[in-house]
Amino acid sequence: MPSHLVCFNSSCRAQYPITDVLYNCPKCGGLLEASAPEALDPARLKPLWRERRMSNAPLDQSGVWRYRELLPFDGQFEHVVTIREGNTPLLASPRAAAYGGLRAVTFKHQGFNPTGSFKDNGMTCGASQGRRLGMKRVACVSTGNTSASMAAYAAQAGMQAIIFLPHGNISYGKLAQALEYGAKTLQVEANFDQILKLVRVLAEQLGIYLLNSVNPFRIEGQKTIMAEMLDQRDWHVPDWVVVPGGNLGNVSAFGKALRELQAAGFIDRLPRLAVIQAEGSAPFEAFMHTPTHDSFPTVDHPETLATAIKIGDPVSWPKAWNEVATSGGLVEKVTEQEIADAKAVVGASGIGCEPASAATLAGIRKLTASGRMPPDADVVAILTGNVLKDPDYIYRYHTGGLTAHSGPIKGAFENAPIVVPNDPQKIAALLA
Ligand code: F0G
Repeated sequence: MPSHLVCFNSSCRAQYPITDVLYNCPKCGGLLEASAPEALDPARLKPLWRERRMSNAPLDQSGVWRYRELLPFDGQFEHVVTIREGNTPLLASPRAAAYGGLRAVTFKHQGFNPTGSFKDNGMTCGASQGRRLGMKRVACVSTGNTSASMAAYAAQAGMQAIIFLPHGNISYGKLAQALEYGAKTLQVEANFDQILKLVRVLAEQLGIYLLNSVNPFRIEGQKTIMAEMLDQRDWHVPDWVVVPGGNLGNVSAFGKALRELQAAGFIDRLPRLAVIQAEGSAPFEAFMHTPTHDSFPTVDHPETLATAIKIGDPVSWPKAWNEVATSGGLVEKVTEQEIADAKAVVGASGIGCEPASAATLAGIRKLTASGRMPPDADVVAILTGNVLKDPDYIYRYHTGGLTAHSGPIKGAFENAPIVVPNDPQKIAALLA
């Protein structure tokens, strides 16, 4: 059966053609997902996916389209727009492991993507679908990375990008990318959650293709992060995959990928998914503690200096909940201080990441300290964004000027630059 859209709501499961422009189920309003790929043969695909790494064909060089059998395009790839996304490394860090209370930890660093975040994995797929549908304009609301990514892919695809940002609440690195890639950029005096509602109305009204993670094609592309990670580990399944949670698209994509790969026989068990949120923007963590799970406790005024995950009303929470539950995973929250120090440790190990990404290591430290994650666990932590995304945060941390809503951050790993005179004697004395 060709790929199609399916309502995620288990009591509905209505189906729609893959080329319908839908973000929610017209029958019940539920989230939509792409149907699972059929007839995947691990014995054929594992060596084929490996072989494609040697190829010079653009589709094969992409760390997303190399795994194209997992994506709902049914062999039709003529609309694909790729900037050779994915291809992100697995990096070991003994220093971060020690800080996190683990014997070893591996980072899957999505900041190595062309626009510096995991959004590129999803955006190549979303933008390609936009082209397949003949869309001329694409839109998103963003805490910065989605917009940077969408701007680049729209430019490559010859579509106009229209970006909505929460004014004053995204880092300059990300805003700069959107401007440089030529997107029409609107800064709205509202928060992410409010603007998402606005953009959904406008997209419908103006016939603009919406490329937030409510778009099922974004989720499909982000599935390949798990396929690539497993491929890089010779299909050896880790015990845990740890990921920061904001709008909860990424964890939804990871869970779907892992379930599909298990169903097809690529892997024989699921890693446990751990989602880490920032304390001031942690509705999913709060939801997991509600006794009956019958309503979602949105946060009206989310706060965190990790602006990428400053979200109080995450659209994908029903999917995320399903994936965390199915994998036997959990949700934890960490403080501004914990994020800041964990980030400095990732940096000091020569790897570096943006603030939201560091929630993973901060979360690992908390989970090992409380005995929920054993020290010898095999853990893959996802670093979602590049260290250069938010240099302002870094400078302030290392010079003692970083202040969160919860109060000033005391940089335990502060490393301030030193001003010196142009005098070799004095500099030598300082370095002695
Ligand atoms: N880490 C980074 C660096 C992000 O940019 C985001 C989301 C997340 C984690 C959270 O991922 O939403 O899938 O749970 N950034 C979005 C944006 C919201 O607009 O760029 P999620």
